[in-house]
Amino acid sequence: MNNEPAERPKILIVDDALDMIEVLIAQLGENHEINFSTTGRHALELAVTTLPDLILLDIIMPEMDGYAICRALKENEATCDIPVMFLTCCSDNDDLVKGFRAGAVDYVTKPFQPNELLARVTTHLQLRQARCEVERKNTELEKALEQNRMLVREVYHRVKNNLNVACSLLNLQKDLVKDSRDASLFVEARNRIMVMCGIHDLLCHSATHTDVPAVDFFTDITHKLLRSYDRREIHPHVECGDLCLDLNVAITCGLIVNELVTNSLKYAFPEGRKGNITLLLTRQGRGMSLTVRDDGVGIPDGLDIATSDSLGLVLVTSLIQQLGGTLEVRRKAGTAFIISFPVN
Ligand SMILES: Nc1ncnc2c1ncn2[C@@H]1O[C@H](COP(=O)(O)OP(=O)(O)O)[C@@H](O)[C@H]1O
Ligand SMILES: [Mg+2]
Repeated sequence: MNNEPAERPKILIVDDALDMIEVLIAQLGENHEINFSTTGRHALELAVTTLPDLILLDIIMPEMDGYAICRALKENEATCDIPVMFLTCCSDNDDLVKGFRAGAVDYVTKPFQPNELLARVTTHLQLRQARCEVERKNTELEKALEQNRMLVREVYHRVKNNLNVACSLLNLQKDLVKDSRDASLFVEARNRIMVMCGIHDLLCHSATHTDVPAVDFFTDITHKLLRSYDRREIHPHVECGDLCLDLNVAITCGLIVNELVTNSLKYAFPEGRKGNITLLLTRQGRGMSLTVRDDGVGIPDGLDIATSDSLGLVLVTSLIQQLGGTLEVRRKAGTAFIISFPVN
C-alpha cells in the first residue's frame, strides 16, 4: 500500500478487450497509477510484482475466467488482501453471488457510469488505506508493547540482583557477629529481603510480569527457610491451586508467610521434634484465605497475639492491616494463623 501521500494508488486492470482497458485508463489514469493485463496468467504475475491497491477484473475471458483469477489471487499470501472489483456485463444475481464467493468486494456492470465507477474505486481504495493504517498501527503497538515488556523484565532483574547483594552483605555481617542472638537478627533480616528477591525473580520469568504464581512463590520461601534453619526433618505442604497474586499482595503475603513459617521453625518443634508445616491459599468469595499451620507444641498459653510487642507478630498484624484483612488464630494441635483478605 502507498503510505506516502505523494504516491498515487495503484490499480491493476484485467480485461481481454483492449478498448475497455483504454476507456478505464482514460477515466482513472489521471489520479491513479495503472497497470493492465489481457490474460489471467499474466495478471497473476503482475499482481505479485506490482502489488496494486485495487484490481478491476473482467469476468468473461478466454483460458482463465475472472472467478478463477480471483480465487487464485485470494489463495496467494502475497495478493490475498488486495481488494478485487468485478467489471461485468452479467448482472445476473447468480453471477454476482459467484463473484462474491470467489472473494470480490464489489462489482460494476458494463457499460458503467464513469461517476459510479470512480466513486466505487475511491471507496475501496480508502477502505484499503484505512485497513493498512490500522495494521501498521497494530504492528507499532505490538513492538512498543514488547519493548515495554523487555524493560519491565530488565527492571525486575536489576531489583532482584540488588536485593541479592543486600542478602550477601547481611550474610557477611552475620558471620562477623559473635553473639548468636545478634546473628539470628541478621538471618531474619536477610530472609525478609530474600522474600522480595524471590518475587522479582518469579516476575522476571512470568508471562504477564504482574501475576505471581502463588504455589511457586510460597514453595520457594518455605524451602529457603527450611534450609536457612537446617530443619530438614520438618515437612512443608504448600497448596494454592493455580492462584496468582498481584505484585503488592504477593509482597505482603510473602512477608507474612516468612514471619509465620520462621516462627514455626524456631518455636513449634523444639529439640529436633519432627512435624509438618502447611500453607494453604484458597479463594474465599471475592477474597482469599491464607492459612499457615503447624502441628507443633503451640504458642505459650500466656501469650496474647493481639497485644504482643515482639517484632514478628507486630509485623504480621500490620501487614494484615495493609491487606485490609482479618486474622483468626487457632491454638489446637499446634498453631494455625488464618488470614482472610479482599482482592480486586
Ligand atoms: N508457631 C509457633 N509455635 C510456637 N510458638 C510460637 C509460634 N509462633 C509464635 N510463637 C511464640 O510467639 C513469640 C513471638 O513471636 P514473634 O513476634 O515472631 O517474635 P520472635 O520470633 O522474635 O520471638 C515467640 O517468641 C514464640 O514464643
Ligand atoms: Mg518471629
